[in-house]
Amino acid sequence: MFLQLVQQRRTIYQFIDQKVESKKLNQCLEAAIWAPNHGLTQPWRFYVIGNQTQQALTQLYAKLRADKRALAGSEEHQAIYLKACDRFMANPQIVIVGQVCSSDSVKSKEDYAACACAIQNFQLAAWEQGLGVQWSTGPIINEAETYQLLGLNSAEIKLIGILYMGYPECIPESQRLPLSKVVKSYP
Ligand SMILES: Cc1cc2nc3c(=O)[nH]c(=O)nc-3n(C[C@H](O)[C@H](O)[C@H](O)COP(=O)(O)O)c2cc1C
Repeated sequence: MFLQLVQQRRTIYQFIDQKVESKKLNQCLEAAIWAPNHGLTQPWRFYVIGNQTQQALTQLYAKLRADKRALAGSEEHQAIYLKACDRFMANPQIVIVGQVCSSDSVKSKEDYAACACAIQNFQLAAWEQGLGVQWSTGPIINEAETYQLLGLNSAEIKLIGILYMGYPECIPESQRLPLSKVVKSYP
């Protein structure tokens, strides 16, 4: 049932050590591109990360995390760095989402909304297949080095999300306000 799928989907932060089948990943991508988008701009781009690229991104991710939390060169910095490497590499699959840039601010806003719809389609298709996703807007997507690694020009594509995915190790709880708090009806 659709409502059950939507309500039961959770953001997943820990994954078991099992690869994501490319057929399942393709189903998620296929669902993503059928999201609504104004003027059929189809502003989304998906960058499917392979092992070699994940390793390169790992170093960047770990550096950003360690630099934020400890003094470069310190033992603490090194410990955070190594832990972050393990954490990033433990993601069985990573997909980075980009939005095609537009100089028109209205179009840009609408295109971001369309990309968000696409990501939610992706997440729901994943969940239906037993897979979990964490949609992150963490700092790695803003780094010039990430664009370089992916061979992207930041004047053409803006990276808007990084999707970590795999089979869930545990499923967290979440909650929402009741409808009565967020819906107002008019006669
Ligand atoms: C635009 C957007 C950005 C998000 N960025 C992050 C993020 O950077 N890190 C993170 O852990 N979760 C991120 N999330 C996931 C939310 O934290 C998550 O959806 C929220 O906690 C509700 O949990 P649920 O998805 O399990 O219902 C993001 C979600 C959205 C829609």
